Amino acid sequence: MKFRPLDSVFRVNPVASGCREVDESWTLAELNFRGLSTRFMYILGIESSCDETAAAVVADGRDICSSVISSQIKRHAAYGGVVPELAAREHLRNIEPIMEQALSEAGVGPEDLHGVAVTYTPGLIPALLVGTSFAKGFAERRGLPLLGVNHIVAHLYAGMMDQPDCLADEGAFPVIGLVVSGGHTLLTAVDGRGEITLLGQTLDDAAGEAFDKAAKILALGYPGGPLIDQLAAEGNPEAFDFPRGLVKKRGGNPSKRQRHQFNFSFSGLKTALYYQVKDREDLSDTATKDIIASYQEAVVDTLVHKTAAAVRAYQAPTVIVSGGVACNSRLRQKLQTLREETDTKNIVITAPALCTDNAAMVAGYGCELYKLGQFSDLRLQAGPTFDLPPETRLFQA
Ligand code: KG4
Ligand code: ZN
Repeated sequence: MKFRPLDSVFRVNPVASGCREVDESWTLAELNFRGLSTRFMYILGIESSCDETAAAVVADGRDICSSVISSQIKRHAAYGGVVPELAAREHLRNIEPIMEQALSEAGVGPEDLHGVAVTYTPGLIPALLVGTSFAKGFAERRGLPLLGVNHIVAHLYAGMMDQPDCLADEGAFPVIGLVVSGGHTLLTAVDGRGEITLLGQTLDDAAGEAFDKAAKILALGYPGGPLIDQLAAEGNPEAFDFPRGLVKKRGGNPSKRQRHQFNFSFSGLKTALYYQVKDREDLSDTATKDIIASYQEAVVDTLVHKTAAAVRAYQAPTVIVSGGVACNSRLRQKLQTLREETDTKNIVITAPALCTDNAAMVAGYGCELYKLGQFSDLRLQAGPTFDLPPETRLFQA
């Protein structure tokens, strides 16, 4: 297969280049029609790893031309969590119209695209299979390169897309990246070459899972994160003393402490909540809100504590936080304390629209993979678990 060479992808600002007749509202198709194409690198992104079917077109890895998301939350709510086969059926129904909407909103035709990026890991296999099969078929039919995207790395990239200037100079590195989603919680360090090192991850539940399971125990509904965020605002975060997993106070076993410095554990916290509310039908609304606020505080404290430890250990001037749980208002507020408690200068807390699952981050990271020359082919296989192969890069330096 012959791909468009990268050096044919260059940026021309028609206004700056003196074409006064150019109207900024023109779509790419209109610019092409007039022979005034802006010649960006356009990547189509496809996301189907869990319960969102999403497609987006991103130019040059930064400019989001369109981002369409179809959420299946209502379909799964009755089951208290995502049902993989149901998710796959919904993805199958939605993927083509969502992709067409993304192209049409971007004013881009398949012939304008330079590549197709798709999430292939980690996620629910039946759900991932829909996205990867669709992307393979589309790319093959159009003669476009396929770019297999790791969903977790794409979450991290969302922070870069949101605030591209944060990594503009060499002094911004190393960057500590915290990804907190429904299925994963991990800390990474990114160097000036874009190379990602995994510092630690959860040994059991993810932070989002901790919120979702707590909401289930308290019969609040699904997904639990946003509901807990809302109710916690009315409670006292100091009313109950919930455990902070793997956050060692002074003393203890030093080698264990060292080994788990950047790892997380939230399953003990969930169990503590279970025993706190078990057989207690007498809980008042106020007590329930206090429990929720205290529980949220334990999750947030742990995340901020571990991030601060990583920032100190790596003397990192920049922190990026992303993933669905990064929408949490208490976490967003408490991350600001890193400014006083560490020497970090720049804290990038990704905009909520880019935190939860979306295809713009997939297309954006796909653009970096294109620049790195890391193409996939029809052998690309959906994978359920998170893996970070050595020398994985977040961007092309
Ligand atoms: O990144 P994401 O959209 O999907 C995965 O890759 O898992 O994250 C979804 C998770 C869910 O567990 C949801 O409860 C949580 O993000 N979440 C929140 C908030 N909004 C979404 N957790 C806490 N506070 C929120 N405001
Ligand atoms: Zn996600």
